[in-house]
Amino acid sequence: MSIRIALAAAGICVFAMVTTASAQVDAGAAEALVKAEKCTKCHDVEKTKKATSFKAVAAKYKGKADGEAAITKMLTTGGKVKAADGTEEEHDAIGTKDAKAVKNLVGWILSR
Ligand code: HEC
Repeated sequence: MSIRIALAAAGICVFAMVTTASAQVDAGAAEALVKAEKCTKCHDVEKTKKATSFKAVAAKYKGKADGEAAITKMLTTGGKVKAADGTEEEHDAIGTKDAKAVKNLVGWILSR
């Protein structure tokens, strides 16, 4: 195989990975879950409410290799967080035990 063909093949692979990664997020399912879990009581996609917006969360984790893992861990086990007004509190773990739904939700948050 010539180097040129090898590079082209590698390029196609990367492209396919990137497009499937973003295509995997089911926004409708994520939004329904956010509603059902009452995340919107404290979070908005755009605006800071009691907690930071999902946009700000996405910005905070953008480009961090462990971002998805960190959010997933926080959401599945809960943990101490600091609210926008500075008070510390325990973040509830997400109610669903559906790992696929959580993964989809984390992907959705990170792509805001
Ligand atoms: C009772 C209020 C409240 C509810 C309900 C709530 N959160 Fe939070 N959340 C917070 C606070 C407070 C923080 C930490 C400070 C911040 O990011 O503004 C936070 C932080 C986060 C973070 C960022 C963690 C980090 O490392 O920066 C994510 C992601 C998150 N919440 C997702 C969710 C999801 C998904 C739900 C629904 C399952 C949810 N939250 C429900 C209050 C809440």
